[in-house]
Amino acid sequence: MYAINMAQNKKELNLPEEIKIFDTTLRDGEQAPGIALTVDEKIKIAQRLDILGVDTIEVGFPTASNGERKAAKEIAKLGLNSELCGLARVVKKDIDAVIDSNLSYVHLFIGTSPLHRDYKLKKTKDEILNQSIEMVEYAKDHGLKVEFSAEDATRTELNYLIEFYKAVENAGSDIINVPDTVGILVPSTARTLIRTLRKKINIPISLHFHNDFGLAVANTIIGLEEGANQSHCTINGIGERSGNTSLEELAVTLKIAYGLDLNVDTTKLYDTSNFVGTITGIKMPPTKPIVGDNAFAHESGIHVDGILKNASTYEPIAPEMVGRRRTIALGKHTGHAAIKSKLDEHNIKLSDKQFDHIFTQIKSLGDKGKVITDNDLNSIILTEISTSKNEYIKLLGLSVMTGESVSATATVKISLNGEIMETSHIGVGPIDAAIKAITSLVEDTVNISLDEYKLEAITGGTDALAETFVKISDDRGNNTTGRATREDIILSSVVAVINSINRIIELRETF
Ligand code: KIV
Ligand code: ZN
Repeated sequence: MYAINMAQNKKELNLPEEIKIFDTTLRDGEQAPGIALTVDEKIKIAQRLDILGVDTIEVGFPTASNGERKAAKEIAKLGLNSELCGLARVVKKDIDAVIDSNLSYVHLFIGTSPLHRDYKLKKTKDEILNQSIEMVEYAKDHGLKVEFSAEDATRTELNYLIEFYKAVENAGSDIINVPDTVGILVPSTARTLIRTLRKKINIPISLHFHNDFGLAVANTIIGLEEGANQSHCTINGIGERSGNTSLEELAVTLKIAYGLDLNVDTTKLYDTSNFVGTITGIKMPPTKPIVGDNAFAHESGIHVDGILKNASTYEPIAPEMVGRRRTIALGKHTGHAAIKSKLDEHNIKLSDKQFDHIFTQIKSLGDKGKVITDNDLNSIILTEISTSKNEYIKLLGLSVMTGESVSATATVKISLNGEIMETSHIGVGPIDAAIKAITSLVEDTVNISLDEYKLEAITGGTDALAETFVKISDDRGNNTTGRATREDIILSSVVAVINSINRIIELRETF
């Protein structure tokens, strides 16, 4: 049915039966600039990762600090379902710190590329190989499960890399991990590398791909297609520099494109992402796949119309699959269908005239660059509903003058039952002055007093919409309310007062 038959495509791949997720949010993720987690925060994130269903949690680098070791120990006490792992260099002290933290799984690493050998470690290939073999044996002698990383594997000579991984395999390593430490792979090189390693290595292969060129998830998928068994991932893709393979993107892609169910509960992805975003202070951009604000938001009239008829027209997956809900944003691209669906949601019936009025307001706010939130829309609708059908008073003009050490003055021009009138008034501020000007203009027709006045900015920012709510009464005991929503607070106040006076006049004429 699709242009590319996925089932056929899958047969030609070397995907393993089961793919494991090794989550390194608490280790590589925490290494992202600006993140420093407390012990308590690490515990809370570990609990969330466990609920999400990741197979392994890399809890940290126990030798690095007392806090790291304490966090590892506390997480080890929780009895989580996920396996727990600690990072260690190929030195006894680091492996002992992992053991001391009550972890039974160590992630050993050493740089293998010429850059790391010559500049960072100042060691020969043989020295690195022998030290690694010795430390695998040490860790195995202490009963640890061992995963071995050749740091900067993707810039290491292929022959040496294979020799190195074979050596750690023979020394008893349980898994080899392939770090693309500076994210230089592209899908075609990822394919060649993992295909070559898969032919030589008999133990599970894990991938640890960085996202420097935005290709971590794509490269990981290619690595898995070539028979890798596990991927290191982080929530929200956080990690060194541009981060690591994003867990949420990988899990959803594997499920949708390959029909592969991981142990991860995808319905918990959004909550987990928010939780990690809040604790780390690294919020996702709106365009971030799966968890960004826009991932399931629709604005354009054509798309919204399609979505309301059948959501699959413009969504690759149902938002509920990742624990989200669809949002229909309103703005300059909005069509009738979006507003209609919002009104239906609240069971609000409007006349065609009221509907058109709301539609025009939304379009014109959108043209001014404003995104209309649900709250904005509710207020616009309420304003429309509470506006009198009869416009006895129409606002024709308004100007205010205010400042320091001068009285605020407002000049208001209205038509009252067709008669044009204008006056100026002073007040304690421009709103007070404007309202006083209106009441004085209408006093021969209706004597009103302002009983309640509330002004609110609906959204944040200096360009927020201002919503005014007023309650007025007249000398006959009639009470009415009026609302208005405008970008200008004085205009919003004046229109709300005029709306409610119109309703009072209507009451007086009706009863
Ligand atoms: O990116 C990297 O090389 C690492 C190692 C510690 C595996 O994070
Ligand atoms: Zn890394």
